Amino acid sequence: MSESTGSRPALDLEAFPPSFAWGTATSAYQIEGAVAEDGRAPSIWDTFSRVPGAIDNGDHGDTACDHYHRWREDIALMKELGTDTYRLSVAWPRVVPGGDGPVNEAGIDFYDRLVDGLLDAGITPSVTLYHWDLPQALQDRGGWTVRETAEHLAAYTTAVAERLGDRVTRWATLNEPLCSGWIGHLEGRMAPGLTDLTAAVRASYHLLLGHGLATQALRAAAPGARIGLVTNHSTVAPASDRPEDLAAAARMDGHTNRWWLDPVYGRGFPTDMRELYGVELPEKPGDAELIAAPLDWHGLNYYFPVTVADDPEGPVPYAREVRLPDVPRSGMDWQIDAGGLEALLLRLTEDYGVRELYVTENGSAFPDAVGPDGSVHDPERTGYLEQHLAACARAVRKGVPLAGYYAWSLLDNFEWAYGYDKRFGLVHVDYATQKRTVKTSGRRYADIIRAHRETTAG
Ligand code: FCB
Repeated sequence: MSESTGSRPALDLEAFPPSFAWGTATSAYQIEGAVAEDGRAPSIWDTFSRVPGAIDNGDHGDTACDHYHRWREDIALMKELGTDTYRLSVAWPRVVPGGDGPVNEAGIDFYDRLVDGLLDAGITPSVTLYHWDLPQALQDRGGWTVRETAEHLAAYTTAVAERLGDRVTRWATLNEPLCSGWIGHLEGRMAPGLTDLTAAVRASYHLLLGHGLATQALRAAAPGARIGLVTNHSTVAPASDRPEDLAAAARMDGHTNRWWLDPVYGRGFPTDMRELYGVELPEKPGDAELIAAPLDWHGLNYYFPVTVADDPEGPVPYAREVRLPDVPRSGMDWQIDAGGLEALLLRLTEDYGVRELYVTENGSAFPDAVGPDGSVHDPERTGYLEQHLAACARAVRKGVPLAGYYAWSLLDNFEWAYGYDKRFGLVHVDYATQKRTVKTSGRRYADIIRAHRETTAG
């Protein structure tokens, strides 16, 4: 890219190894559109986005970024940014529309073409099997609250791996099971929109079991696969040093972090949280080992830290988020703190013993304005990117085995319950025309990637 973005605080690019993978990320429902094409059946997000009031502005993913038809153009954008890798998700309701049963060849063909297109462009695909778009047919049979859904995930995984496993090596089973489990079943702000602790705890269990079964299926169907799990985390601070707030922070840490990591790294589900939830887990012999199957890498999605106070009357985990005054915030009203990313990378390395890490998502939404000349100047997003990459560099200097970074997101897209208003893209999308415009942040990312290559060349 020719346009320079001017002088900036120096980034410690030499911290990153020459093989460091620079990427962007998206997910199927957020960008593809074409929800009724080539045999795709509805997912829980097609259903949820029709619930009155569930999504801002009544938005839905029917067209989204029309990536299903414009994927070639979108690969060209990745090339323009100079990225090495692209994290995408496969839509289960395209590949196995009924949730279980026959494979829809036209659906898997789309990903087959997309993978070939990426490889032709010199971009390594990183494929996530489940980014929240459960086939509605399975929700109608209990969704993640029943064990069969985890088994169906494994069968669908086998179908995808058999078709793409000769060319795709970097695989993730689930994206952010916390959001599916807690936000989808306890807080009701995401599909399927339940507010039921028992359902939520059972869903969380079956999601992690599904991760284990999908890992097993991938190992069998694609022997060269390098498999990871993508989880989202926040650092948790107490609002004061009162013992009640310290205990609330420990509970929130259990709810947000330990519940999702301890079982995967062989420690089982944390006892304090089991007691707090008071819901019996649907455990069977052998499950713990499946859930803790060795992984090749871990993907961390990081956006914000949280500060909490004791809230005995509130919902589980009885910890109320406290809004700190005078701290920087993104357009999501999320606190901006790159130190949280560094801390979580260190925790995954030192506490959980992860040997290979990716930042699989990190980014920020701000209300972008298209300038009179058609350009999109987004200094706040650019600053967020630089600060978080600096945090990654510090973590690497401290010994974190960070292998890559994926900016969320390549494109502005359907931001779930917030609809299209919240723009996370390095590339702006005009939804009326589907015109893509690389933002200043995208140019800055391209500059960083190029500078890193120059720094480490030879
Ligand atoms: C994460 C999701 C991703 C996107 C970002 C902003 O929780 O994985 O799909 O919505 O947040």
